[in-house]
Amino acid sequence: MLKEIYQPNPDIVSNAAIRGMGEYWELQSRAKADYEGFWEGYANRKIEWFKPFDTVLDESNPPFYKWFSGGQLNVAHQCVDRHLATKKNKAAIIFEGDNGDYQILTYRRLSYEVNKTANMFKNMFGIKKGDRVVLYMPMIPEAAISMLACAKIGAIHSVVFGGFSAEALRDRIEDAQAKLVVTADGAFRKGKPYMLKPVVDKALEARCECVNAVCVVERNGEEIHWEPGRDYAYNELIKSQSHVCEAEPMESEDPLFLLYTSGSTGKPKGVQHATAGYILWAQMTMEWVFDLKDNDTYWCTADVGWITGHTYIVYGPLAAGATTIMFEGVPTYPDAGRCWRMIEEYQINQFYTAPTAIRLLHKMGADEPAKYDLSSLRVLGTVGEPIDPPAWKWYYEEVGHENCAIVDTWWQTETGGHMVSPLPGATAIKPACATFPLPGIMAEVIDEEGNPTPVGEKGFLCITKPWPSMIRNVWGDEDRYISSYFGDCKKEGKPVYFSGDGAMVDEGGYITITGRTDDVINVSGHRMGTAEVEAAIKKHDGVAAVAVVGKPHEIKGEGIFAYIVLKSDDGVADELETMKEINGIIKQEIGAIALCDDMAFVPDLPKTRSGKIMRRILRSIVKGEAITQDTSTLEDPSIVPTIEEIVNRKV
Ligand code: WTA
Repeated sequence: MLKEIYQPNPDIVSNAAIRGMGEYWELQSRAKADYEGFWEGYANRKIEWFKPFDTVLDESNPPFYKWFSGGQLNVAHQCVDRHLATKKNKAAIIFEGDNGDYQILTYRRLSYEVNKTANMFKNMFGIKKGDRVVLYMPMIPEAAISMLACAKIGAIHSVVFGGFSAEALRDRIEDAQAKLVVTADGAFRKGKPYMLKPVVDKALEARCECVNAVCVVERNGEEIHWEPGRDYAYNELIKSQSHVCEAEPMESEDPLFLLYTSGSTGKPKGVQHATAGYILWAQMTMEWVFDLKDNDTYWCTADVGWITGHTYIVYGPLAAGATTIMFEGVPTYPDAGRCWRMIEEYQINQFYTAPTAIRLLHKMGADEPAKYDLSSLRVLGTVGEPIDPPAWKWYYEEVGHENCAIVDTWWQTETGGHMVSPLPGATAIKPACATFPLPGIMAEVIDEEGNPTPVGEKGFLCITKPWPSMIRNVWGDEDRYISSYFGDCKKEGKPVYFSGDGAMVDEGGYITITGRTDDVINVSGHRMGTAEVEAAIKKHDGVAAVAVVGKPHEIKGEGIFAYIVLKSDDGVADELETMKEINGIIKQEIGAIALCDDMAFVPDLPKTRSGKIMRRILRSIVKGEAITQDTSTLEDPSIVPTIEEIVNRKV
């Protein structure tokens, strides 16, 4: 049985930044009373400005907000160079490879490498302020170095997760009109080499005229194709570069990076983040939510290809002057004790991972944590999807020994950093609950009319005031930015940011996230748009119609389930073969992360008379729930029991 409220051991967790809920409420009231004053204070204290800003928040053209206008800064300076006076020999990045090899980059060494890489991008590839650079990288230090090198010279990076296919990579390169692609031959996973460069080669076979060069880091030493005049060896070119590089003065609102993410409709969107607001919030949340102390070693297991890797492996920890671990491997290799062994070896103080990893580690080795000394841990984090109570309990009891704070952090690619999260040492924690909005964040749960939902009732999680690290635009598509995130709902005449997540507030004000309210599926904490997966499946010649929905999955949280209507009735003869073909197409179009766990071949889909597919019915069927929706408005109500029967036969 889980208790209602947990308070971590105050001798172990004591948040130096926000010391208790009293201080939290005081900060939050201060932000409400003087919103701009609140942010101005932090921006002045936390950022080393090249030129001070004149305006805190410009709301003249909502929802296109501007923060800290007139100010100039540089994120690589904020994350690396400004620390040299006090931390030059402190470890900035500790890299551990899949095979256990390791590398330590002190702040000085990191500065040196970033400058050389920045000079290489500038001198060898002609990259200038505002140019886009795509990074298709494994989890090696050069990924972080390349991100910071872009920031140093004002180039906009777009990191594409290494699990995406050539097609997906090509779309992202094209959409951003990138001039340069930085990649690696490949890397190591579970003791074996895997490849990335061949995917880049394939992506560049069509379109992508924008790309002038591919810069290839050597990691696994496997043989790769080399395109003369296009491909360049990072490890060779870097040798002759100067280690001195002036930081480009950037305006507060200059874009820092793009990161593509899935929505419920259409192709992935290039979420555009701005320089000053992003780095400010990355640093503040890093300090608050992880209770960061100078001698700490912090480990986030995400991949740099996702926002968690951006904000909480690279930018947040480095801006805060922390030591951040970068891990190339997987938590279960060589065995399910890998993470716990690393925590013991490096004396990790904060461990930040996803519920899917916690479930997997629990399942594969519930007793493993007990074999290691985990007493260095103070804060355990989770992100990416709602965490279920059994996983939470195991994490709290077996990993944290009932001493650590668990921070269930709710946020999104679009929010840039944490939004709703416990503050270790301050917040009394409820299991599997994201608790309260962080100070300065005006999160509310509202109904369709924009009114706060009553206690205990589900509503939409919204942010009613702009915040510094919010998305600034969908790259090249202002209309999509407005339509995706700002519905008709207004508060005090200003648009409200819709997160797409549902939530509930209890009588104590605690916020519990209930999951997506749109057609986004959360697979192992990764966002998959149903439209994207459906578009891929439709490329199969035999498919007439398709609808995909999420199906509860023991480890992944949600898996992808596809309802497929084939063009010819006798097409189902070889279901397994067709499923294989369809998954083959998905792998090619998106990547292995979007593979369907299961499919049902059905004669038709439940459609309204206007042709809209009733996905809610399909979701209920796959979960084995009773259909509560009114089916009388369907074009053919009899299709529902037919589909139910087909799905039930499968399970
Ligand atoms: C989900 C990841 C419940 C949510 C940082 C959100 C969560 C989506 C939590 C964003 C959490 C993230 N509890 N759900 N603590 N954190 N989510 O953009 O549905 O990859 O909208 O950013 O993950 O995913 P994204």
